[in-house]
Amino acid sequence: MMDSKDLEAEIHPLKNEDRKLQENQENLAKKEDNLRSTPVQSRLSRCRTAVFFLSLFICLLVVFVISFIIPCPERPASQGSWRIDYNTTVTYDFLAMEDINRDRVQDVLFLYKSTNSSNDFNQSCADEGFSSPCTFMAAVSGANGSILWERPTAQDVALVECAVPQPRDSGASSACIVVGRRGSSIAVDSFTGQTLWNHPSSLGGNASILSPLLQVPDLNADGAPDLLVLTQDGKEVHGYIYSGSTGHQIGHQGSLGVDETSGSLLHVTRAGAHYILFPCASSLCGQSVKGLYEKVTGRDSTLRRDPGWEDMLNTTAHRLLLHSSGAIRYLMNVPGKGGEDLLLVTSEACMLLDGQELSPKWTFSAAQILRKPILGHYKPDTLAVVIENGTGIDRQILLLDLSTGAVLWSQALPGLAGDPQSASLPTADHRSAFFFWGFHELIGATQMEPRDPQHSLYLFHPTLPGILLELTNISANMVAFQVALFEPGRHAACILLTGPASPDQPGLVSMAKHKVQDLVLSSRVVRLADGGPDDDQAIRVRLSRLRYRSET
Ligand SMILES: *[C@@H]1O[C@H](CO)[C@@H](O)[C@H](O)[C@H]1NC(C)=O
Ligand SMILES: *[C@@H]1O[C@H](CO)[C@@H](O)[C@H](O)[C@H]1NC(C)=O
Ligand SMILES: *[C@@H]1O[C@H](CO)[C@@H](O)[C@H](O)[C@H]1NC(C)=O
Ligand SMILES: *[C@@H]1O[C@H](CO)[C@@H](O)[C@H](O)[C@H]1NC(C)=O
Ligand SMILES: *[C@@H]1O[C@H](CO)[C@@H](O)[C@H](O)[C@H]1NC(C)=O
Ligand SMILES: *[C@@H]1O[C@H](CO)[C@@H](O)[C@H](O)[C@H]1NC(C)=O
Ligand SMILES: *[C@@H]1O[C@H](CO)[C@@H](O)[C@H](O)[C@H]1NC(C)=O
Ligand SMILES: *[C@@H]1O[C@H](CO)[C@@H](O)[C@H](O)[C@H]1NC(C)=O
Repeated sequence: MMDSKDLEAEIHPLKNEDRKLQENQENLAKKEDNLRSTPVQSRLSRCRTAVFFLSLFICLLVVFVISFIIPCPERPASQGSWRIDYNTTVTYDFLAMEDINRDRVQDVLFLYKSTNSSNDFNQSCADEGFSSPCTFMAAVSGANGSILWERPTAQDVALVECAVPQPRDSGASSACIVVGRRGSSIAVDSFTGQTLWNHPSSLGGNASILSPLLQVPDLNADGAPDLLVLTQDGKEVHGYIYSGSTGHQIGHQGSLGVDETSGSLLHVTRAGAHYILFPCASSLCGQSVKGLYEKVTGRDSTLRRDPGWEDMLNTTAHRLLLHSSGAIRYLMNVPGKGGEDLLLVTSEACMLLDGQELSPKWTFSAAQILRKPILGHYKPDTLAVVIENGTGIDRQILLLDLSTGAVLWSQALPGLAGDPQSASLPTADHRSAFFFWGFHELIGATQMEPRDPQHSLYLFHPTLPGILLELTNISANMVAFQVALFEPGRHAACILLTGPASPDQPGLVSMAKHKVQDLVLSSRVVRLADGGPDDDQAIRVRLSRLRYRSET
């Protein structure tokens, strides 16, 4: 019985419902029940409505308070562009970036030579015991170009290195170290410009200082990397080691066993051993930092030697690591698999050497490379080397795949003698934007140098390989150029330092910052090939939307 009724209910559910409905309508008691419960339900729903509107009101009030009444945390108003001028000075090819006033905008450090500092900073060369004119270091706010500090640092500067870490107990987190032409050295706190330490020259005789200043691992265990200065004295190259935290010389001078060199480099082998590499008469020579330290102090060091490298050095008069074809012009560490590889530019070729075996991975010949290559990303997350083949009207820019040496992009781009180095900056799409200098009238250039040469800055992005943007023209003499991400996640800007070409003729020195996005929007579109996408304005808008990221 039950089963068949249930089955019927399942087959005709509506019919069953209808019957139940009829039964309910007839049931008076139930109706009364319903009537009694109605005021309770309506009171409840009114309550719910009130709660709803109250919470909405509170939400709106909170939004209102946050957005209008409580002021926003002060964001530094960073100017897209600014410019500062110094009269009757000369300047140097040096720019360093650091957030000095801690406003989260990168600030700029540079050097100029003058008789006294600018008017706001009442400082003269005599204050630091220099004769006039001397070299000043200045820190300039990246946000608005105001000068944060200025001070005399050397009579004549030979080497300068910023962002040198300092020991934790020194009170300074990083220092700029300036070595004078005569060998005196000074370390200043990057954040305040205060002297951290200061030493007269300890170099012998007529020694001339070779660039660059190398940072070697902490040898005297004081918590700061130490410094290595190479000098050329007659027919000998010497190394001097200085404590990075006090500037005191460690041991005496040590000979590197070569008669001349330039462009030395600190390289770490896969075994974690530090070697100083230096070009020597069309070969690559080297010495372990451990070996040099033990030679100058007579004490043991905890650093390592690389057995493989020691064997190479052992069999070849203690210093030769590699014979190269042609004189070595540039030597660079580049990221490789499991450590650093070496990029070597000689008068005949550019080659990538394995960082441990020193065996060539690839060689790119038939190129006259007279400038140090730079790195950037042409394909996403794949490093490329930018080389310049030739100079002047015959210059050609080539982008090579770092892992294979294959040409990715090449373009004739006539240059001028005083053009600054190219630059690259990573973009959010894991490629890089490239910045090249050349002269205006790049396309269909007449076969002669223009009368009033203008340095033009071009931007190239690999997503538009047929397009260059001419960002700006400069007719003044260019001394230094750098492009950097000024605010994390915000805008990229370039810094241009112009000044007299000769140090003997002081003149107007200017430093200017230009936001890259603004330059892109006012740029001239140069089409490298016929056709190509869109109209000019669409290209500008597209490239102005590029987002940049920091190097790391
Ligand atoms: C620099 O020289 C220019 C003219 O050449 C002059 O207008 C300007 O006032 C000078 N600036 C300073 C700080 O002396
Ligand atoms: C250097 O100081 C002198 C006097 O103190 C002043 O006349 C001169 O303009 C200053 N030079 C610069 C470049 O500021
Ligand atoms: C600059 O400093 C010197 C002494 O160091 C002082 O005699 C001179 O009055 C100062 N000038 C200004 C404008 O502060
Ligand atoms: C630049 O900004 C600082 C604060 O960050 C301010 O003290 C200074 O007056 C500004 N300078 C100029 C020239 O606007
Ligand atoms: C330095 O060089 C000059 C000439 O170049 C020479 O007369 C002088 O003796 C040298 N001094 C030393 C200490 O070698
Ligand atoms: C060769 O190198 C080894 C270390 O690998 C060293 O002990 C030895 O003294 C070197 N030989 C010479 C002749 O320098
Ligand atoms: C480099 O330039 C020279 C001379 O302009 C030219 O002969 C050579 O082919 C160029 N190399 C490459 C790889 O394009
Ligand atoms: C550079 O100068 C040339 C002529 O002097 C001009 O045609 C071109 O538009 C300028 N480029 C920019 C980006 O201002």
